[in-house]
Amino acid sequence: MLAQKMQDALNAQVLMEAESSQIYLAMASWAEIQPGIDNVTEFFYRHSDEERAHMLKLIHFINERGGFAMIPALSQPSPTYPSIHHAFKELLNHEIKVSESINNLVDIALQEKDYATHNFLQWYVAEQIEEEALARIMNDKLEMIGDDKSGLYLFDRDILNVNVVGGGE
Ligand code: FEO
Repeated sequence: MLAQKMQDALNAQVLMEAESSQIYLAMASWAEIQPGIDNVTEFFYRHSDEERAHMLKLIHFINERGGFAMIPALSQPSPTYPSIHHAFKELLNHEIKVSESINNLVDIALQEKDYATHNFLQWYVAEQIEEEALARIMNDKLEMIGDDKSGLYLFDRDILNVNVVGGGE
C-alpha cells in the first residue's frame, strides 16, 4: 500500500510526464510545418509517445499498489519556437527538471521506507541519465552548426539513427 505522501508525489510525476508528452507534441507539430526537418519532426513525435509511455507506467504502478492515479489537466505548452536550437534547448532544460523531480521521488521513497517504489523508480533514474545525455549531445551539435544550412541538413539526416530511449516497457 502506498503512503499518501508517496502517492501524491507519484501523481505529481504523472502530471510531469504528461506535460512532457504535450511539450514534445507541440515541438513536433511546430517542426512539421518547418521546411526540411522531417526527421526532427519524427523525433519529437516519437519522444512525445515515449513520455506518454512513462506516464502510463506510473499510472499502472500507482493503481497496482493500492493507490489511485489521478488523470490531471494539462497546461498549454509553447506552440511555436524561434528556432530548432531553441526547441532543443528547452528539451534539455525540461529533462533536467524531470531528473530533479525523479531524484526527489527517490528521496521520498527512502524517507517512507518504501523499497518497492524505490526499486520501481530505478528505471526512471537510468532513463533520465540517458535522456539528459542525448539532449546534451544534440545541443552541442546544434551549437557547432549554428545557422549553417548544410549542417542542419546533416543534423536532420543523422537524427534518423537516434533511438529515443525508454519506451516504458
Ligand atoms: Fe519521462 Fe523525458 O522524462
